[in-house]
Amino acid sequence: MFNATQVKALQQTSLLWLTNADYVVTEHNVEELRNILRFHEHRYYVQNNPLITDGEYDVIYKKLKSFEGENPALITTNSPTQRVGTALIKNFAKVQHLVPMLSLDNSFTAEDLLDFDRKIKELSCLGVIEYCVEPKFDGASISLVYENDMLVRGITRGDGEVGDDITANIKQIKSIPLSANFSKNNIEQIEIRGEVLMNKNSFQNYNALLGEEGIAPLANPRNAAAGTLRMKNPLEVGKRKLEAFLYSVSYFTLKNADKLSPFNTQYASIDFLDRLGFKVSELNKETCTINGIDNVITHINQFETKRDALPYEIDGMVIKVNDLALQEKLGMTSHHPRWAIAYKFKARQATSKLLGVEYQVGRTGAVTPVAKIAPAQVGGVTVTSISIHNEDYIKEKDLKIGDAILIERSGDVIPQIVKVLAELRTGKEVDIPFPTRCPVCADALARPEGEAVWRCVNINCEAQVLERMMHFVSKDAMDIRSLGEANVRKFFALGIIKDVPSIYRLKANDFKNVEGFGAKSVENLLAAIEASKLQPLHRLIYGLGIRYVGENTAKTLVRAINSIFDLATKTEDDLKMMDDVGVKVANSIVAFFKNEDNIALLQQLQNLGLQMQSLKNETVASGGLVGLTFLFTGTLAKLKRNDAEATAEAKGGKLLSGVSSKLNYLVVGTDAGSKLEKAKKIPTIKIISEDEFIGMMDKT
Ligand code: IVH
Repeated sequence: MFNATQVKALQQTSLLWLTNADYVVTEHNVEELRNILRFHEHRYYVQNNPLITDGEYDVIYKKLKSFEGENPALITTNSPTQRVGTALIKNFAKVQHLVPMLSLDNSFTAEDLLDFDRKIKELSCLGVIEYCVEPKFDGASISLVYENDMLVRGITRGDGEVGDDITANIKQIKSIPLSANFSKNNIEQIEIRGEVLMNKNSFQNYNALLGEEGIAPLANPRNAAAGTLRMKNPLEVGKRKLEAFLYSVSYFTLKNADKLSPFNTQYASIDFLDRLGFKVSELNKETCTINGIDNVITHINQFETKRDALPYEIDGMVIKVNDLALQEKLGMTSHHPRWAIAYKFKARQATSKLLGVEYQVGRTGAVTPVAKIAPAQVGGVTVTSISIHNEDYIKEKDLKIGDAILIERSGDVIPQIVKVLAELRTGKEVDIPFPTRCPVCADALARPEGEAVWRCVNINCEAQVLERMMHFVSKDAMDIRSLGEANVRKFFALGIIKDVPSIYRLKANDFKNVEGFGAKSVENLLAAIEASKLQPLHRLIYGLGIRYVGENTAKTLVRAINSIFDLATKTEDDLKMMDDVGVKVANSIVAFFKNEDNIALLQQLQNLGLQMQSLKNETVASGGLVGLTFLFTGTLAKLKRNDAEATAEAKGGKLLSGVSSKLNYLVVGTDAGSKLEKAKKIPTIKIISEDEFIGMMDKT
């Protein structure tokens, strides 16, 4: 969409908007500012290759937002600020598709594809057919209409003729441009089809979030995408990180009928959408043209083996006749086009039987039922147990012991029960009992109001103590690698450790009767425990396992304190002022620090030598330059090189020793030599002067 020169120019202008106080928004340059934001949205959401940090994007976005706030008459419908509609949707209006949204015929074997090819050859009288082969995205289909370059409507598939107008939600998907330069390509009105997805990573994060709230996770990314598109609150949609892959142009009108259409093959139409800034599957790799059905079959068999490596779910491939004129000639049945077919990959679903239920007690006392099932092969993995989350989930799915069940595993996502095969019930199935006492410590369970989970509230319940220790030593917390889950279990069972502080009281002598722990491993283990005492404070806070406090919240908290004990003085209101800290998180933190046992625990850890202060570096390392790399070259006029480097580091930046594509900023003094020349050849490096660097430091 942008060539290297344009990328470089846009990037340099971005930098000026970020660092130069003279860059003030006016009616003359506001469109330039919008283009810069569009460029960065495209880099981030379409190309997955951002050139600036989220923070830098926000700085530029806020400039535009505040200018438009003061000059509402100058707001344009395709301004990047116009994605955000705050109004709730009452009912989705019904709209007619410009052309019907047909389905695809399905195939499952090479023979099916040979049949498909044979019919096309008969109808077309051609010897070899050229196909365009694409991934079959497993999401929710959408149709987008642009008129005079502006996105005017986003519609669900509906019954194929009429769908729901979900424009407000569609605008929340940042990879969908609010406008695109169709008119330059002689197009007046265009309808584009595609699939909205939640990629595997976003899906897992989203389910983890639901889990934290005690809500049962969604079975697969497809349901997550389809459900999100139908939400009544567009702002919620924005938070769910959907993306949209476009796969065909279904209809368009030309501005000037005498001029040629901008493409005449399916592949060229995808390339066209790509050039106009839409997200499409990678050309020549995920979408390719292939001559002859035999080559198509070889290709899709190879592609199936790479399925898990894709960041999003696909359930097969779509094989389309590439030549649009031939497509037209082949036409369609009432259900599907004759020029395309879906090839479905092996199912990721399997049937099994629910044999029984066990209950696990987690770190926060939550009691999770786990279904034991008859071993089933799903997507190459044998599944024998599946979490069934909580009591409400069991009721909602109407699960009974003895039921035949349909299970699904999407890629590397944890298996889920899709549904009970109720028609196979014999009447011998029995209800799943839910315990009233903790299966580990036998204390009574409680179900807090508004929550879906039953909890063991005995803070000293062995299961919780063990889980808390495992969380404390885990990779993202104190990261004591040699003390993984298995060893924590072992040492706990042997009575060598009993709680978190006891880990720091371990001595070589404690291991004399422990099998498999020779002098060297004991020495390594004790050294790792000792080293963990100096872990930065946010890791300790995360490791404490305060409910709702994830790694990012822990980092936010550290920025606002000097010592962990400062958190005991914060009120709910103080906490709510911080980024990303809502009522629930604030309540949970206050409750944690009100509990005397927790304060006593922290005091013990302090006495044992753990790092309880937020280091200066750590505080600022969360500041404006985190994730950015710097290199200085030439003689600086105002700053000493050491001081300049220290300032960049103190603000979270990282220093590199040479020019490479990993470098973000090259700060250039006088007499700069080869480093500058080399950097000029890498378009992603921002080359800035000493003054620009100083300006940047003042602002971060
Ligand atoms: S073409 C007229 N291409 O699969 C044919 N469809 O089973 C239009 N799908 O509802 C469909 N990836 O939403 C086409 N690369 C792709 C696709 C794709 C996913 C979906 C589509 C449709 C369903 C048909």
